[in-house]
Amino acid sequence: MSSHKEETKRKTVRDIIRQKGQEPIVCLTAYSAPIARMADAHADLVLVGDSLGMVLYGLDSTVGVTMEMMIAHGRAVVKATRTALVTVDMPFGSYQESPAQAFHNAALIMKETGAGAVKLEGGTEMAETVSFLTSRGIPVMGHIGLQPQSVHAAGGYRVTGRDDTERAKLEHDARAIAESGAFGIVLECIDPDLAGSVTRSVAVPTIGIGASAECDGQILVTEDMVGLSGHKVPKFVKQYANVGGAIEKAMKAYADEVRARAFPGEEHIYKSDRKDQKMRIVKSGS
Ligand code: KIV
Repeated sequence: MSSHKEETKRKTVRDIIRQKGQEPIVCLTAYSAPIARMADAHADLVLVGDSLGMVLYGLDSTVGVTMEMMIAHGRAVVKATRTALVTVDMPFGSYQESPAQAFHNAALIMKETGAGAVKLEGGTEMAETVSFLTSRGIPVMGHIGLQPQSVHAAGGYRVTGRDDTERAKLEHDARAIAESGAFGIVLECIDPDLAGSVTRSVAVPTIGIGASAECDGQILVTEDMVGLSGHKVPKFVKQYANVGGAIEKAMKAYADEVRARAFPGEEHIYKSDRKDQKMRIVKSGS
């Protein structure tokens, strides 16, 4: 049966893996259709990160993020993208209990959103779960180093891998996750030497955030890099724009014009056609 829909050639996890050692992998987060549409034009992978809990919902951490939130935003992002691999974060509490719980929720996310992969946080302790998912058809991205979902256990957000024990653990975690079938691993807030040695020691791409250009690719939270997150951004964020400032300026101009009765103007109103008294609505300017 022929379809009138334009064919979508989306990147797959295989495409992402093939980029290792060949071409840097560009990743961005998106939680909504408009941002996803823009990210799709530039990124290989669009992550529906659970950072949306803090960025969009104003939560103190990602711990309160729910499956419902991830599914609703994941669906919007998949619908608005055509070429990037969309990966959806599994929220805290949706996968740590058992491989079976992880499979149930990962499958639900993929069915409900149409995403091509899920991401979960954790090292060696999650290897069995990663293997359970990947051997049953669910592409998984790992996330080690600073793991925001474990902020309470870790006693805050901190750079990891600062001593030999932590470094050895991180190297071990990366290998365990890669060997369990993950197609990529996010390395968050680790020093460049460690990021380099982890990147060289695994067969799949590493995606850095606060982990230097030693990684195979980079990811940033879009709202942070365009100045829209409304809070002080971490040192590893480069701010490429100040969209928040532009929005504030526009809102102030609107408020001033409403108060001065300068908005709406003639060009923004609908007029009734008084000749035949029918109150036909004629769009101004048409
Ligand atoms: O939740 C998120 O946005 C993330 C990225 C920062 C890697 O996990």
